[in-house]
Amino acid sequence: MTPTASLEPPARVLLGPGPSIVSPRVLRAMSIPLVGHLDPAFLRIMDETKRLLQFVFQTRNELSIPISGTGSAGMETCLVNLLEPGDEAVVCVNGVFGTRMADIVERCGATLTKVDAPWGRVIDPADVAAALKRCKRPKLVAIVHAETSTGAWQPLEEISALAHGAGALFVVDTVTSLGGCPVRVDDWGIDTCYSGTQKCLSCPPGLAPVTFGPRAVEALRRRKSKVQSWYLDLTMIEKYWSAERVYHHTAPITMNYALYEALRIIEEEGLDARWARHERNHQALKAGLAAIGLSIASQESHQLWTLNSVTIPDGVDDARVRSALLDEFNLEIGGSLGPLKGKTWRIGLMGESSTAANVLLVLSALERVLPRCGYGVEPGVALAAAQRVYAEARESVGA
Ligand SMILES: Cc1ncc(COP(=O)(O)O)c(C=O)c1O
Repeated sequence: MTPTASLEPPARVLLGPGPSIVSPRVLRAMSIPLVGHLDPAFLRIMDETKRLLQFVFQTRNELSIPISGTGSAGMETCLVNLLEPGDEAVVCVNGVFGTRMADIVERCGATLTKVDAPWGRVIDPADVAAALKRCKRPKLVAIVHAETSTGAWQPLEEISALAHGAGALFVVDTVTSLGGCPVRVDDWGIDTCYSGTQKCLSCPPGLAPVTFGPRAVEALRRRKSKVQSWYLDLTMIEKYWSAERVYHHTAPITMNYALYEALRIIEEEGLDARWARHERNHQALKAGLAAIGLSIASQESHQLWTLNSVTIPDGVDDARVRSALLDEFNLEIGGSLGPLKGKTWRIGLMGESSTAANVLLVLSALERVLPRCGYGVEPGVALAAAQRVYAEARESVGA
């Protein structure tokens, strides 16, 4: 019998919709020996993690913790803990992840009112206002801040005010925004939101940071029925993350080490500097793409810095280009889902992946590959356009 091959996946440059590149510091943290999940040393790490999550979420919420599971576990945690059968929920749907929230709302036995916008466009607050009027007693309004499936960047404050005006809680998906662009939970009146570790936090997938504010916690306390999910029931999980330290499930120790280190990296960089880096790299990529006639597909002035949805030129084979980038440049970019499949590429510039070197790499790789796939490109123009953006940014800070 031939022995099983050793584990040797290639070291890719991850510029897809997630996971993003993980810092060597985070990888080292994952090789630290385990302690028990109630060891005093781990309890200290938990407390520091809560503080660091309050910092990245920009909130004072005590209940700011990582849920064991990927971003979807965060989504499910927020919805199953707030909704009871018969509640009314308004869900904004303009891509894959709004669609999933709507699905979970129905699985909770709640009555769903959907607010739709075409994929790639943002939700119009007037449509949310109209939906709220159709409800008797809306319990929550749920929305995606950064739609990874389309690259649309949703403004939140007006919709937050509408939700509160109708007596509803405001629930936000920040999976592709937290750590990459401003997320201000307290200032924007977000009652609960969730994220994932593998995007702009640049950790492996496996934890879902969530934060619950006072109104959301009160709704949790006032529940008449048990939370539908045992594993994601915050009334029990919070007892492990608070002074009581009651065992609920064995915390994934290694993933918590990873998140701790990733959050420390963000603290060291500073949120403002980190957001500015993501903006600069997005602008450089966009300029480079424009120079070779490629455009960002999501709504103008609502284009994410973290996820660039690029229109595939007519006649160019989506999969052929992505395979060439992977095979020849070790570079992953994403295809798209649903109605955008074959029409857009998704280039993620998240966390550790958001660097000038990676922007220049993907542009030069596209300059090489596209002509072979039937789309003529003048060599060097994309790189030159991106480099002009970096030069201007250096001049503006006097560097
Ligand atoms: C906006 C958004 N929400 C939720 C999720 C689900 O996260 P996960 O795949 O980590 O479960 C994703 C994943 O890409 C996402 O982009």
